Amino acid sequence: MSGGLLLAIESSCDETGVALLDGPRRIVGQAVASQVALHAGAGGIVPELAARAHLRWLDPSLDEVLADAGATLDDVGSVAVTAGPGLVGSLLVGVSYAKALAWGLGVPLVGVNHLEGHLYAAWLLDPGEPDRPEPAFPLVALVVSGGHTFLVEMRDHLSYRLLGETVDDAAGEAFDKAGRLLGLGYPGGPAIAQAAREVAAPGTAAGDSPTDRLPRAWLGTSYDFSFSGLKTALRRRVEAELAADGLPASEAGGRLGASRVAALAAAFEESVVDVLATKTLRAAEALGARTIVVGGGVASNALLRGRLAAGAAGLEVDLVMPRPGLCTDNGAMIGAAGARRLAAGETAGPDLGARASWPLARPAGTPDSRRPPTRGGAARAYARARDAEADAAGRGTG
Ligand code: KG4
Ligand code: ZN
Repeated sequence: MSGGLLLAIESSCDETGVALLDGPRRIVGQAVASQVALHAGAGGIVPELAARAHLRWLDPSLDEVLADAGATLDDVGSVAVTAGPGLVGSLLVGVSYAKALAWGLGVPLVGVNHLEGHLYAAWLLDPGEPDRPEPAFPLVALVVSGGHTFLVEMRDHLSYRLLGETVDDAAGEAFDKAGRLLGLGYPGGPAIAQAAREVAAPGTAAGDSPTDRLPRAWLGTSYDFSFSGLKTALRRRVEAELAADGLPASEAGGRLGASRVAALAAAFEESVVDVLATKTLRAAEALGARTIVVGGGVASNALLRGRLAAGAAGLEVDLVMPRPGLCTDNGAMIGAAGARRLAAGETAGPDLGARASWPLARPAGTPDSRRPPTRGGAARAYARARDAEADAAGRGTG
């Protein structure tokens, strides 16, 4: 990795994240501008609004982070940016911004896979947080976000073997759809967790009452996940209860009354968490993992955290779950992954593009797709031009 601070930018979805890292793990400043309020009325993310909001918030976020860290742009030695997967319009705002900054400062740029960022959040250290050892390999990593759900094995940095993934909805997407069905609004994950807490203390199996129990899709012994059947089961349950109250099936579940909404939210949360935790713990045990790492927005769920903590303790495996603010989208996680990519010698050129789809790991036998999208010749030309400019300006990029 080159000297100086690493500036990291995330704009793949509905959070504008900017962070400064000193080394691959230490956060020295960060800001996240959330668009939750902007999209809440629509019940989901409006891509055009999201892209415009990123444009609006990147500059002030960068100013805030530099001020926080007591740094200036002259202290920035490299730039990392999310290049995919995500909303292309939103990604392009961040990618263009990062390219301009890297070019202007004459420092290396690296394009980061957002999913790799969620995973590397487990390596981050907050400002002032005492040093702690890095997660030990081999490890099993669960990524559970709004758009993705998968389980990988890592035997070394930047190397992934896909164990299983969702065959339909992502876990976060399932929470968001269930939130709408229950009339709880967007995003559904935190709203369902909060509603579920009204039936019991967090960490208890409130959602497992025999009458409200919802199904789990185990898919045999595979490490794949499926949540669409659970969502359908919840919809049928809501419709049946509405019909019993003489209400039309099209009514939002909120018409059910707070205690029924809370009970169904708890049952839904319990079903998702049971499958996620059981498969993750089973993989860790089967593969002899030393560590379990969890990332993505759903990893901020308290029931999931508690269930994994208890299971990992039983297996005597270390569990690393970032604090909730580092599980949801943020710039620091992009810095943590970007630093590793830079250290491995990866850089991107002015033709760095945005990729709507970019799997971190594919099932065995399919081509590697981890590298960011660049056209080789132009990337090399950019690197040469950048180095020449850096030499002229008297600041090294190595
Ligand atoms: O990783 P993330 O911030 O964005 C994506 O990359 O998708 O994840 C957002 C997802 C949303 O679907 C949201 O409902 C879910 O994470 N989420 C939660 C919780 N907090 C956020 N799901 C369950 N429980 C939570 N506490
Ligand atoms: Zn994410």
